[in-house]
Amino acid sequence: MQQINPTLTRAWNALLQHKSEQLSIPELFAEDTQRFEKYSLYFDNQILVDFSKNAINQNTLTLLRQLANECQLQSAISAMFSGKKINRTEDRAVLHTALRNRSNTPVEVDGKDVMPEVNAVLAKMKSFCERVISGKWQGYTGKAITDVVNIGIGGSDLGPYMVTEALRPYKNHLSLHFVSNVDGTHIAETLRKLNPETTLVLVASKTFTTQETMTNALSAREWLLANAKEESAVAKHFVALSTNAKEVAKFGIDTENMFEFWDWVGGRYSLWSAIGLSIMLSVGAENFEQLLEGAHAMDKHFQSTPIEKNIPATLALIGIWNNNFLGAESEAILPYDQYMHRFAAYFQQGNMESNGKYVGRDGKPVDYQTGPIIWGEPGTNGQHAFYQLIHQGTKLIPCDFIAPAQTHNPIGDHHSKLLSNFFAQTEALAFGKSKETIEQEFVQAGKSLEKVAGIVPFKVFTGNKPTNSILVQKITPFTLGALIAMYEHKIFVQGVIFNIYSFDQWGVELGKQLANRILPELENDETITSHDSSTNGLINQFKSWR
Ligand code: F6P
Repeated sequence: MQQINPTLTRAWNALLQHKSEQLSIPELFAEDTQRFEKYSLYFDNQILVDFSKNAINQNTLTLLRQLANECQLQSAISAMFSGKKINRTEDRAVLHTALRNRSNTPVEVDGKDVMPEVNAVLAKMKSFCERVISGKWQGYTGKAITDVVNIGIGGSDLGPYMVTEALRPYKNHLSLHFVSNVDGTHIAETLRKLNPETTLVLVASKTFTTQETMTNALSAREWLLANAKEESAVAKHFVALSTNAKEVAKFGIDTENMFEFWDWVGGRYSLWSAIGLSIMLSVGAENFEQLLEGAHAMDKHFQSTPIEKNIPATLALIGIWNNNFLGAESEAILPYDQYMHRFAAYFQQGNMESNGKYVGRDGKPVDYQTGPIIWGEPGTNGQHAFYQLIHQGTKLIPCDFIAPAQTHNPIGDHHSKLLSNFFAQTEALAFGKSKETIEQEFVQAGKSLEKVAGIVPFKVFTGNKPTNSILVQKITPFTLGALIAMYEHKIFVQGVIFNIYSFDQWGVELGKQLANRILPELENDETITSHDSSTNGLINQFKSWR
């Protein structure tokens, strides 16, 4: 990957100049009645991405595309897909795309095609799931499995949890549970409801050393053995999803019961790998493969579509415009689909762990903004919670609105009501409500303008708030796979342009190290003096109160 400071490109400086001339969103719509046609793209006739409600025009896009070219985006895309070690700080390739490479074309890492191994693990997952779902796989008392507990954290939890929730309409009889937090409450409350005779535990951890996951896995193992009494029960109730066979064996899980993946799969990009076993157990192998197909179709689109029509690249460039030129610090992801209630949380990790970096690829601190803060909740709940600030606060918050045209639950007029809100919000955010309109409404309601003058300013919406609307025909395994891959590639493009390494996560290490130092200090009642006064004070108060 090239080391190019984006702010030193010709396009960046032209964009700074362009910004000072740019019109507002309402002005841009007034000027051009064809904005929707010009600034929206279709994917596979199933996903419509409308980005017209952004403060952009053809000049903006041309300059943003020039920026991508000057930052050598195309060669970065080729490097990733072809297995180059673009994760330089960990000396690894980045090949989540190989996990869903349904074309099965060879993908080489260190001169070796990874596809045979990818296909072999997928086949092993399918045969295992078939046995569990059909009831052939039995627990230690000969009973079929009814409940599956995925124990993992970060990428080993958020992806599988988000997808199993989003694909609930496709699920079978198995009940899925997800335990991530090291807070004993999480595992206790989950296992309390379950019968060890019919529960399967998936220990999902790329490294198989993560403190939270190993602690929860050990507690689950004790829970099983407290009931089963026989060590041999572990083989019937525990499987491992990991890259680390040595640690899996050390934990006591037979490596026969291990579903492997590889160091070229980043944790937050791992739901397509063996980490997706909970997804496959929940919705079956065919649906899991459809998820892969959708992602693969988006991969092909991303790889081969010219930048003018390239959806992930376009979303990434608009994100850079909002983040680096218009000063937005965060982005909200707002799915109008209750099943997608973990989608924003999933991409909070996906984006913030990838692009939350202050050191450039040249090893020096950057002097521009990198990845945005990602947050969000499903609509319409968010409307009654935080949209006030998006509409009338002092911060610019670009939003992605996502909604399915067809619902899985066509009850009465719920879906029309939901979608009316989806359409209304982006309209309100873009066009706002002027003082004149408010005054007119008061007059029509028979109120005197003199009397209401003091209230009018509070009712004004300035508008000009950027949004993307992503309308999906229906949330299916295929379209969900495509949507996830779309966001993954958006993050990738932004990382390339920010000139950072998007696939490491050193920023989570310091907290882990310090926690490991503090843990032994909590094991006795001695007064602690080894830290700063705040940390000492807090630890000592904890010790006296516990
Ligand atoms: O939070 C850091 C991190 O390494 C994530 O990147 C990862 O998804 C998570 O921890 C879990 O790691 P593992 O799968 O190795 O347990």
